[in-house]
Amino acid sequence: MRIDILTLFPDMFSGVFGNSILKRSIQKGLLEVHTHDIRNFTLSKHRRVDDYPFGGEAGMVMMIEPIARCIEQLQLERDYDAVIFMSPDGVPFKQNAANRLSMVENIIILCGHYKGIDERIREIYITEEISIGDYVLSGGEIAAMAVVDAVVRVIPGVLNDETSALSDSFQDGLLSAPVYTRPADYKGHKVPDVLLSGNERLIKDWKLEQQLLRTSQRRPDLLED
Ligand code: ADE
Repeated sequence: MRIDILTLFPDMFSGVFGNSILKRSIQKGLLEVHTHDIRNFTLSKHRRVDDYPFGGEAGMVMMIEPIARCIEQLQLERDYDAVIFMSPDGVPFKQNAANRLSMVENIIILCGHYKGIDERIREIYITEEISIGDYVLSGGEIAAMAVVDAVVRVIPGVLNDETSALSDSFQDGLLSAPVYTRPADYKGHKVPDVLLSGNERLIKDWKLEQQLLRTSQRRPDLLED
């Protein structure tokens, strides 16, 4: 899978892509990520990427030309399955969207600034808008990192033990059961006996019960869905 990220702050991504699962999936050849500095696509000699809004509201607006030139150049090189704009106005991001996007070849993710992109960018280029929650971030970059991480970890072969992505919270519409490791007794706080019983059927039943309990206590909305 190839992901092209358009941003005014490409340096923000180096830590995320240089570590952990994202780094390993790049090394394994399962993921290619390219960041593009929108500022490199301006025609103005001052490398201007934003301007005052028509109609005069507060704040600057990201201009259409640099973003359009960057997207069009990429689209000449290959076909894209999705051109995503990160925005609090977008569709709330859920596990099913991560699963869906993990199965496509090429995506573009545009990071902008709230209130701040010329509406015609949406009209002409954007195929979907994604929000990671009902709060406003300073820009789409951190949201894009969250989406990329969630998408990449479900690409087959990215995780060593493939079943571990399948048993994530949300994959079956439920939160995960609690997990424990050694010691079995930490200062009197004991691991539930059933997990030490060796009885696979009992353990499976216990895990499902815990998932249902946790989901009903913390996220009853998921059970309604
Ligand atoms: N950009 C700013 N806030 C955002 C959010 N909540 N989700 C996605 N992109 C954003």
